[in-house]
Amino acid sequence: MYGPVIEGSRFRLRPPRPEDAPLMLAWLEDVEVTARLMVRFPPSLDEEEEWLRQRARDRDALTWAIEHEGRLVGVTGFDQIDWRNLHATSGTVIGDKRAWGRGIAGEMMRLRADFAFTELPLRKLKSGYLEGNEASRRAQLGAGYREVGRLRREVYREGRWLDMVLTELLREEWEASRRPGPDRPAGR
Ligand SMILES: CC(C)(COP(=O)(O)OP(=O)(O)OC[C@H]1O[C@@H](n2cnc3c(N)ncnc32)[C@H](O)[C@@H]1OP(=O)(O)O)[C@@H](O)C(=O)NCCC(=O)NCCS
Repeated sequence: MYGPVIEGSRFRLRPPRPEDAPLMLAWLEDVEVTARLMVRFPPSLDEEEEWLRQRARDRDALTWAIEHEGRLVGVTGFDQIDWRNLHATSGTVIGDKRAWGRGIAGEMMRLRADFAFTELPLRKLKSGYLEGNEASRRAQLGAGYREVGRLRREVYREGRWLDMVLTELLREEWEASRRPGPDRPAGR
């Protein structure tokens, strides 16, 4: 499945299009972009196009393209949606390096969680980041995810073994973060 349009203050999530595939492939060819991603070896263009088609058919996944200032800069979504136990795994790649550090991921992860808990009946989002991915760590913590464990020395990268830090966001935690408080007016 593809996700519907969601407007953020500095980005727009929209369903991916077939013509997005060449740019998405270019991101995966960039070793700076994949430095802290599980994907390190780029697919062929055929495989990238097939991945986009397969994501549209997959009822247990939800995919969005991320646009910033009118251009495609990344992709995000949920994988392995478990409709019986109501959890899913979230992931993000902002492949256009000009868009890094502009607060896109932080806000996007919050709006994506709002979607998971208001448009889907999910009870938990799972995610993670590779050791050293400070931007991903901060964006996830800012959106309410908590560290719940660590797969030690999970990935070999640039001559080093890196831990995979596992994170989760429970529906109850998301609800609590939306309750009005002294510093937070109703509705955030
Ligand atoms: C990791 C990634 C998603 C972050 O997206 P982003 O839009 O650049 O992140 P934001 O601008 O929203 O920043 C999020 C937080 O990280 C901080 N940050 C941003 N870039 C940083 C950097 N290079 N080093 C340290 N902190 C950084 C921001 O200050 C912000 O912190 P705050 O919430 O405490 O203010 C994006 O850079 C990316 O996709 N990189 C390549 C692929 C990847 O690693 N994906 C994630 C896999 S888990």
